[in-house]
Amino acid sequence: MHPVIEEIYSSADDELLASAISPDEGSLIQRILTSHECTRTIEIGLANGLSALFIWDIQRAKPGAHHVAIDPFQTKDFGGRGMANLARAGCDSCTLIEEGSEIALPALLKSGAKFDFALLDGFHTFDQTMVDFYFLNRLVRIGGVIAVDDVNNRSVNRAVRYFATLPSLRIIDSTPFAGPKRRMLNTSKKIASVLLRPLTYAAGPAISFEYLDSSVVRPGLVGLLDSSSMVAFEKIDDDIRSTNWYDYL
Ligand SMILES: C[S@@+](CC[C@H](N)C(=O)[O-])C[C@H]1O[C@@H](n2cnc3c(N)ncnc32)[C@H](O)[C@@H]1O
Repeated sequence: MHPVIEEIYSSADDELLASAISPDEGSLIQRILTSHECTRTIEIGLANGLSALFIWDIQRAKPGAHHVAIDPFQTKDFGGRGMANLARAGCDSCTLIEEGSEIALPALLKSGAKFDFALLDGFHTFDQTMVDFYFLNRLVRIGGVIAVDDVNNRSVNRAVRYFATLPSLRIIDSTPFAGPKRRMLNTSKKIASVLLRPLTYAAGPAISFEYLDSSVVRPGLVGLLDSSSMVAFEKIDDDIRSTNWYDYL
């Protein structure tokens, strides 16, 4: 772990720890950056810069690597600490866009920008997550990766459940998030799912999804999303869905 990351964690208060990514999530990001060809990276939500530092720690060894961080509140709420921490770690290849992602992402798309890796860790409402993911999915090349933090947050979870149904995306990695209550819930849902399987099979997906939560009808996929804190999607193809495309979830 980079010494600046260690130092931030060791002196962090509860507020910083609640907003920043965890060491496990940092490791997930670093696994992806190591195993995939990534030079152009982007993140939504810089804050104190922990996620950007995990990214920089791998990317600094790659010639031409460049990071874009989007955060409208870097100066106002964080006093520039994210950028200052990156500078302390010797990062000289990060561009800060101090605008809301809803403004910055369409502008990047219009400019023709492309990225190999994206981290979504901004404003966590359902609608903002949908907008952010939509644009990141347009901005990331085929073979690139989009990691989403805080998928244990209900609003983020709902948005990610939808994107998990897209045929052009597949989940390739995740970090576990399983407090005892969540584990019990997940186990009981798995049991319910097995008991209800003959019924859901006979009724078909359209009827089953009218009555049951997708975590019971599709326990494999949703179970993973419900027991993770960060999930990474690989973009495996162009998005070629037709206008009426919909998959149940
Ligand atoms: C959970 S924190 C990010 C933590 C950071 N990734 C880390 O590991 O230290 C969420 C960040 O999203 C930013 N944010 C809030 N609204 C935003 C928006 N509309 N666009 C982009 N970022 C936003 C906040 O300023 C905050 O820095």
